[in-house]
Amino acid sequence: MLGLLLLQVLASCLWLGHSEVVDDFFKNCPQFFFDGIPPNDVLRPSNSALICQVYNNSYHFATLYNKGKRIPVYSAYIYQRGKCNRSSSWFVEPQLISSSFSKNMDTQVCVRCQNNISLDQIRENQAVTKDYDADKNYHRGHLNPCSHHNNTIDKTATNTLTNIVPQNKKLNQGAWKSYEITTMAQNAQNCKTTYVITGAVPGNNAISKDRVNIPSHIWSAACCLVGKKPKKAWGAIAENNDSNKVDVLTLGDLETRLSGHYGGRAVTLFHKACPRR
Ligand SMILES: *[C@@H]1O[C@H](CO)[C@@H](O)[C@H](O)[C@H]1NC(C)=O
Ligand SMILES: *[C@@H]1O[C@H](CO)[C@@H](O)[C@H](O)[C@H]1NC(C)=O
Ligand SMILES: *[C@@H]1O[C@H](CO)[C@@H](O)[C@H](O)[C@H]1NC(C)=O
Ligand SMILES: *[C@@H]1O[C@H](CO)[C@@H](O)[C@H](O)[C@H]1NC(C)=O
Ligand SMILES: *[C@@H]1O[C@H](CO)[C@@H](O)[C@H](O)[C@H]1NC(C)=O
Repeated sequence: MLGLLLLQVLASCLWLGHSEVVDDFFKNCPQFFFDGIPPNDVLRPSNSALICQVYNNSYHFATLYNKGKRIPVYSAYIYQRGKCNRSSSWFVEPQLISSSFSKNMDTQVCVRCQNNISLDQIRENQAVTKDYDADKNYHRGHLNPCSHHNNTIDKTATNTLTNIVPQNKKLNQGAWKSYEITTMAQNAQNCKTTYVITGAVPGNNAISKDRVNIPSHIWSAACCLVGKKPKKAWGAIAENNDSNKVDVLTLGDLETRLSGHYGGRAVTLFHKACPRR
């Protein structure tokens, strides 16, 4: 009897051990979505993975990753006003290589060494640092940026390539940065908790010999809670080109704009309690 019980406990541990790239819903990290509800499936491509982002054995944010285009669809997190301390190491996601690998994001060197695999095996389903080195017009644009976190470990965890898209360098250093730092701080000023979802619309071009898609647009949405209630929400969207301009709009208008980029099907980013107007 005791033996059976131990066997069951052991089995459940093993099960929990390799489930951070989860198959259905973000079941291990609902805390990054208001009321545990992620955006509806319209944004989700067929060849994708739901990643609960683990660093140093704890959860930091959630990402829907497009394995075919090798860019994230979106990252979801809770906003904490902070200052950036750029860390130098870049991480990749071991579980996009094999579900038996570690759930902790890690550097390419460590992932290769720990699992005795080649760079080509890492490259198959995700971008690697070299993909971004060749093209100087595009920066490594964070969807979840380090400036939205106020502690070292959360900031460090944003430096994973599954949270990165090729972003026009003017936009990354200009209007988008200003939105991330100034507009967010102003809008979230009286919010107890601000849930954020930041994403990218796939475009028609790619960097690194067609390996990594260049998004046509970068967007972000926020739902602000005062106490436990959603009191306001907003959105932002930018063309990922030299026009270097961010439109700040209502959540409802952002959802409508995104629907236009996803075949006219209705996009819902947040729980219905977050104000659309
Ligand atoms: C990793 O987590 C451990 C235990 O939770 C903590 O003591 C340590 O400081 C963390 N390391 C980093 C780099 O934050
Ligand atoms: C970090 O931000 C969160 C959310 O705004 C806040 O509750 C917390 O007190 C902040 N921590 C520090 C150390 O500033
Ligand atoms: C690592 O992989 C290579 C090629 O797959 C194999 O020849 C070698 O024996 C492996 N080394 C270890 C330590 O497992
Ligand atoms: C920023 O970096 C400095 C120097 O490396 C370090 O002392 C400090 O703790 C860091 N601060 C945060 C908030 O990460
Ligand atoms: C940016 O893209 C939009 C839409 O494709 C286009 O109308 C605009 O002219 C572009 N701006 C620049 C500066 O390339």
